[in-house]
Amino acid sequence: MKFFIDTANIEEIKDALSMGMVDGVTTNPSLIAKENGSFKDIINEICKVVDGPISAEVISIDTEGMVSEARPLASISENIVIKVPMTIDGIKATRILASEGIKTNVTLVFSPLQALMAAKAGATYVSPFIGRLDDLSQDGLVLVEQIVDIYNNYAYNTEVIVASIRSPLHVLESALLGADIATIPYNVLSKLAAHPMTDKGLKAFLNDWEKKSK
Ligand code: E4P
Repeated sequence: MKFFIDTANIEEIKDALSMGMVDGVTTNPSLIAKENGSFKDIINEICKVVDGPISAEVISIDTEGMVSEARPLASISENIVIKVPMTIDGIKATRILASEGIKTNVTLVFSPLQALMAAKAGATYVSPFIGRLDDLSQDGLVLVEQIVDIYNNYAYNTEVIVASIRSPLHVLESALLGADIATIPYNVLSKLAAHPMTDKGLKAFLNDWEKKSK
């Protein structure tokens, strides 16, 4: 399973890179807005340190605007993936960008039929937002399972990026369902490594070692 890091913060990206846990990066307008600097500067900086797909989202809501924003963004690096919203205009933009060889990530996906449309339009990636569904008392992981099944049934090449991840359990269940990618916020990535029995065991080893050296 590939791990993307869901942040626009360069320090978080560098730390996750040092763990070898960054196969790619996803950003969105809210994540970019938290950081200093222009959108283009932030994306450029990420491109300098990450060798993998980097999602940068358009903010236009009409097809023409999305495509016009996408082309210069895509020219920054061959690693750039254009994030477009899952709307009819977004689907039309996905189709145009796919025909130009520009990679896309259809975002804000909340239903399996939206994911099917994204794949048919030629999306490189699709991003189901599972945490936001959980917030509405709907099981986001059921959505992931349905998308993985549909894509397998018809051998679509579109890869599933599980997004809006809130906990290690989301990552575990996504891996068990066979999702291609989990895009993980930095705070959740840190939690994946943690286990109280590891801490307890390490403490006991060090205590025993100290006793022996006396
Ligand atoms: C990533 O592609 C998404 O934009 C992100 O995971 C959304 O996460 P949130 O629901 O926590 O804002």
